[in-house]
Amino acid sequence: MTINEIPTPTTNSTAVTGMPRIGDPAPAFTAVTTQGDINFPADYAGKWVVFFSHPADFTPVCTSEFMTFASMQQEFAAYNTELVGLSVDGLYSHIAWLRTIKDKITFRGMKDVEVTFPLIEDISMKIAEMYGMIMPGEDSTKAVRAVFVIDPEGKIRTVIYYPLSLGRNFDELLRVVKALQTADHFSVATPADWRPGDSVIVPPAGSCGTAKERMDGHDEGVKCEDWFFCTKEIAAADIESAIRVRGKA
Ligand code: BEZ
Repeated sequence: MTINEIPTPTTNSTAVTGMPRIGDPAPAFTAVTTQGDINFPADYAGKWVVFFSHPADFTPVCTSEFMTFASMQQEFAAYNTELVGLSVDGLYSHIAWLRTIKDKITFRGMKDVEVTFPLIEDISMKIAEMYGMIMPGEDSTKAVRAVFVIDPEGKIRTVIYYPLSLGRNFDELLRVVKALQTADHFSVATPADWRPGDSVIVPPAGSCGTAKERMDGHDEGVKCEDWFFCTKEIAAADIESAIRVRGKA
């Protein structure tokens, strides 16, 4: 098969649009939500946003995810981060589902859970398609579990996709937010499995002179395994004080 013969993927009737990538501006839209109309991402200027899709209302994995997200909403807000959900269901289905969650569902000790972050209705699938949330090989009429972490300038900073059957790890999503904010604030990178308080990666030496200085131990507080692999310590308390906007210790 030549490149020209590869079929364009389609949903039921509409061509699947491209996915926004890391570094792209978050595609703009207006939408009806369970918390009123929103103009995205403009309404969230100056805040971080975790924008996520779920396959369908009244489904068990999604229910467990919404309860978990709702129970962590204040923790995300403490890091200047708002939550916005989307599925291709309609507004009245969303409202009925969220009421049912509050009235009837207990999950891992969480009960009486009220979802107060906006849940977008997207019956036309326009927004889901714009964000590459419909993956026809998985399901052509339901969004997969997509997560876009968007920064205060409206730029996409992280994209994560999960299939329908796999509930997300919400500690990881909070870790991603903290790691991005730490990287921005301290001009560092974060290594595998990093958590606040672990050592961070110092940007690569930009010159032979800096590389030598670091290897000779002249860059105070910086420890190098080799010229390209240097770390430094930032105390968890310093990170908290820099990135936590509410409930600082
Ligand atoms: C769920 O949320 O439980 C679910 C949704 C769509 C397909 C499979 C599971």
